[in-house]
Amino acid sequence: MNIVAPSPVRLDLGERSYDIHVGTGLLARAGSLIRPLLKMPTLFVAADETVAELHWPALAASLDEAGIAHHLYRVPSGEGSKSFARLESLLSAVLDTRPERSTALLAFGGGVVGDLTGFAASILLRGVPFIQIPTTLLSQVDSSVGGKTGINMAQGKNLVGSFHQPRLVLADIDLLSTLPRRELASGYAEVVKYGLIDDPDFFAWLEKHGPALLDGDAEARAYAVRHSCQAKARTVAGDERESGTRALLNLGHTFGHALEAETGFSSTLLHGEAVGLGSLMAFDLSARLGLCPATDLDRLRAHLESVGMPTRLPAIAGGWQAERTMAHFFHDKKVDQGRLTFILARGIGKSFISRDVPQDVLRAVVTDWCAS
Ligand code: GLY
Repeated sequence: MNIVAPSPVRLDLGERSYDIHVGTGLLARAGSLIRPLLKMPTLFVAADETVAELHWPALAASLDEAGIAHHLYRVPSGEGSKSFARLESLLSAVLDTRPERSTALLAFGGGVVGDLTGFAASILLRGVPFIQIPTTLLSQVDSSVGGKTGINMAQGKNLVGSFHQPRLVLADIDLLSTLPRRELASGYAEVVKYGLIDDPDFFAWLEKHGPALLDGDAEARAYAVRHSCQAKARTVAGDERESGTRALLNLGHTFGHALEAETGFSSTLLHGEAVGLGSLMAFDLSARLGLCPATDLDRLRAHLESVGMPTRLPAIAGGWQAERTMAHFFHDKKVDQGRLTFILARGIGKSFISRDVPQDVLRAVVTDWCAS
């Protein structure tokens, strides 16, 4: 069954506007969709090594059919690849092929490959075009759209990077079927986020269809990915550089990054799992501040449980320590003149940006979560 959306989602950014295709069978059409965007029929593909193992033959065949010559660079799987060393290695591999300003890079993988390749494209020859073929749920609904690129530093995640919009995004739902269930559920946290921010109907839809989506229902997946991309495209079109409302997309992320930092960005807690827990903590904080009904916190917890996402912090060696966890908040990119930015909620679908969260209530939330 081919589920191809009637038309691509358009991210409207003037001359930097681009299409986001969501559907099945897109890998086979990749060559013909990409070809009109290329000045020279050559692509440099940076692919996650696991994705390349599974899906490179299909993508290569599609590029061959469209007459696009290609070079392949395999990126080791995992967050460790968002490093200066990997960036240098990738740039050096591209430069060995004697690229020109119109040579395009293609990111074929999840968020790590997308962020790394997008950053490389933004600085190679002072900027070359790039295309995203995201292969994880998280990258299809969030990181491949919107032009945030970057790598990690010892001091924290994504601290070095750029805004560099892709020319095209192809979100092929078929690619999700080879993802481990835990990885899929982790990415699902970013889908739920769109409901929590400003779309209570979508949250209700997810309550009904989320379990089937995770169990493999292709139509539910296509609907949710497309709906999420529409929400992301709207938000980015309105605030590309995150001077305002784009920050809403960080719901659950300030808490989440702190949890990830405490678990050493390891498989103890995947990024999406941290975002799911962070969203719960944001709703808990909102409820304690009297902003949000506690029943909405319960509803969110019940939904995350229904799809098998963690709703408690995982056990870690030495146990969770509130003060240490809170210290990570101040390394966040979103710190503004020393003030922390949190996304709070007046209910499901009613999120807002807050820069004056009372520290004592924040501390109480973190302390309770660390103790539970
Ligand atoms: N992932 C959040 C953003 O793109 O702004």
